[in-house]
Amino acid sequence: MVHHQLEEFLNYTTSCARNKTMQSLKLYDKRHNNDDVKKLLIKPVMLKGGYHLSFVFRHETKDITKNYTVDEGLSYIAHALEDDFSQAEIAATAGDWHVIIQSAKKVKLKKRQPASAAKPGLTHDKIKERMIAAKGNRYLHALGVTTQEGLVKKDMQDKYRQINKYIEIIDGILKDVSFEKKEIKVADMGAGKGYLTFALYDYLSRVQDACPQVVGVELRPELVDDGNALARRTGFDGLSFVAAKIEDVPLSDLDMLIALHACDTATDDALFRGIQAGAKVLVAAPCCHKQIRAQVNPDNALCEITQHGIMKERQAEMLTDTMRAILLTACGYKTRVFEFIATEHTPKNVLIVGIKKAVKNKDGMDKETMQQFDALKKMFGIKEHYLETLLLKEKQ
Ligand SMILES: C[S@@+](CC[C@H](N)C(=O)[O-])C[C@H]1O[C@@H](n2cnc3c(N)ncnc32)[C@H](O)[C@@H]1O
Repeated sequence: MVHHQLEEFLNYTTSCARNKTMQSLKLYDKRHNNDDVKKLLIKPVMLKGGYHLSFVFRHETKDITKNYTVDEGLSYIAHALEDDFSQAEIAATAGDWHVIIQSAKKVKLKKRQPASAAKPGLTHDKIKERMIAAKGNRYLHALGVTTQEGLVKKDMQDKYRQINKYIEIIDGILKDVSFEKKEIKVADMGAGKGYLTFALYDYLSRVQDACPQVVGVELRPELVDDGNALARRTGFDGLSFVAAKIEDVPLSDLDMLIALHACDTATDDALFRGIQAGAKVLVAAPCCHKQIRAQVNPDNALCEITQHGIMKERQAEMLTDTMRAILLTACGYKTRVFEFIATEHTPKNVLIVGIKKAVKNKDGMDKETMQQFDALKKMFGIKEHYLETLLLKEKQ
């Protein structure tokens, strides 16, 4: 029989979770050493599927997050308190309660005024703001973004903002996309240290409630080893890094391809690999545009632009990315190009997003769109765009 004080605590938890006044709940002080979980930290979250309870299973060296419906969550909490944990504290707008289970017959219940009477922040915007929270995300600390206490380091404010902005954009993109399965296969080309790779994995598993299979492709083996070690430490089982070149890494079917700040034609290689692997979503933030810059040579009034280095550079950037966008459109993607983050944070701020909307034409590219592409090439005296070359080669 459940002790009446424990029953009272569980009833209060149930009513707070059901009427959405629960702010947080933590279970701690294990009675058995039956597994490696030290604490359970529970918060309400609003997911695509509605109001849920998000559980962080805190282990000695990693956190694992799982989302449950309210019913599933409450049932889990009841069993965990009856069998496993000796203490629990709930914070809710009606009051903060603390239960201490000393034995089956000895249970203490303490009730306090609420520390905060604020309603739990459950609006979607609120959740978006803390999609990648600084506190509690151990990978951010391991990557040097946050301090041990979970505060963003002074010199990493821009990186942290960039990570969140990027996840916000992905969240917006995925509102228009249905993968119709939980296992979402993602490749992050030129993953570097993996800031965004980790954040994306975290977001897909926690907010989208998916079972992501994310691979970070990176040339530098030392970064790959560090990324794999950290993925293991944080319990991100579906995240791995491979030391390989974007252009020849083995890829099977993909749902999403990301390439952030892959230099010059590495962005073209990445986009090409995404198209080849049938990715539904392509996201690229290009960086340096040397291949087109070397060719820009209009034999018309536009030649004035090429008289000034900075203008030529900007023109080459615009041209390279506009042509990439046209090529994605020709391959059946609905394409958007927009500013990723304000220029004071990073000069590499353009994002090209493609969402697959149609099966490619039999000959690979839409003819009318390619006529626009050719007209642009002619106007600027461009002989070759690297992404076009890759696409045409594949067609042969
Ligand atoms: C500027 S960093 C960007 C890292 C990360 N995507 C970000 O935005 O934080 C580009 C990374 O791409 C890697 N890289 C460049 N060319 C590559 C290629 N062909 N194949 C694999 N990785 C490449 C580099 O080693 C570098 O770590």
